[in-house]
Amino acid sequence: MAPRSPLLNVMSNAALKAARGLLRDFGEVEQLQVSIKGPGDFVSTADLKAERTLKNELGRARPGFGMVFEESGSEPGSDKRHRWIVDPLDGTTNFLHGIPHFAISIALERDGEIVAGVVYDPLRDEMFMAEKGIGAYVNDRRLRVSARRQLGEAVIGTGMPYGPQREHGPYLAILPSVMKATSGVRRMGAAALDLAYVAAGRFDGFWEFGLSPWDLAAGWLLVREAGGYVSDLSGGQSMMASGDVLAANDHLHLPLAALIREALRTARAGAPAIPSRDG
Ligand code: IPD
Ligand code: CA
Ligand code: CA
Repeated sequence: MAPRSPLLNVMSNAALKAARGLLRDFGEVEQLQVSIKGPGDFVSTADLKAERTLKNELGRARPGFGMVFEESGSEPGSDKRHRWIVDPLDGTTNFLHGIPHFAISIALERDGEIVAGVVYDPLRDEMFMAEKGIGAYVNDRRLRVSARRQLGEAVIGTGMPYGPQREHGPYLAILPSVMKATSGVRRMGAAALDLAYVAAGRFDGFWEFGLSPWDLAAGWLLVREAGGYVSDLSGGQSMMASGDVLAANDHLHLPLAALIREALRTARAGAPAIPSRDG
């Protein structure tokens, strides 16, 4: 049975409340796909509404905590030790296109360290939760990362940049290597859920560059508490600052990191150093 601490209760209740609005709006968005105007403005409003609900709920339950929200930015609280880090809708492009794969991500940072995380998938009603030192759960089931030891049997998640502003080169260099070495690559479109899937043993690994703290914070703790390993691309712990992340079980983290590093090295000079576990 999942230990629902008061803290995880606050976080999961806030997620459930915001999810009710997102579910209603997702139903609308599915209808709007075929309208000439499209669902664009409607989705921005849905995103902001979810953010407002989360802000109200979390603020009421823990007054004074600081907040970092994707849409409205940072608000320092009177309590300097605690900070919520929240993505009200992770997987916006999926949501906009009526693709049923998105989530709410809430993390709590205490004294600069992530101590609790919730990633909620409203469509599957899967509440992924983790608290530092207590473990990771989905609903009432304990989570463990996968036990696979061979890259050849592994399914690896990733996210790919889109649009002219982002750098596509590194992905184009890495993808063929990972495709050849593994059982397949998935690009699902919601980084917080990608990390939750590593925690649940559904993905054997995940990497992405340039993520934001609200994409990463809750999922990072889920993987750690499920027994997995998370680092930046050079084996260090600067994921929140760099946005670059590599998560996997203990057996596959090093080989996957080495594969990615090698692919980058052959494609360009100055690739990250070989990841080390103490990094
Ligand atoms: C995005 C998703 C996507 C990832 C992007 C993120 P958003 O978040 O997590 O999977 O590839 O880098 O920005 O915009 O849907 O909240
Ligand atoms: Ca996001
Ligand atoms: Ca978002």
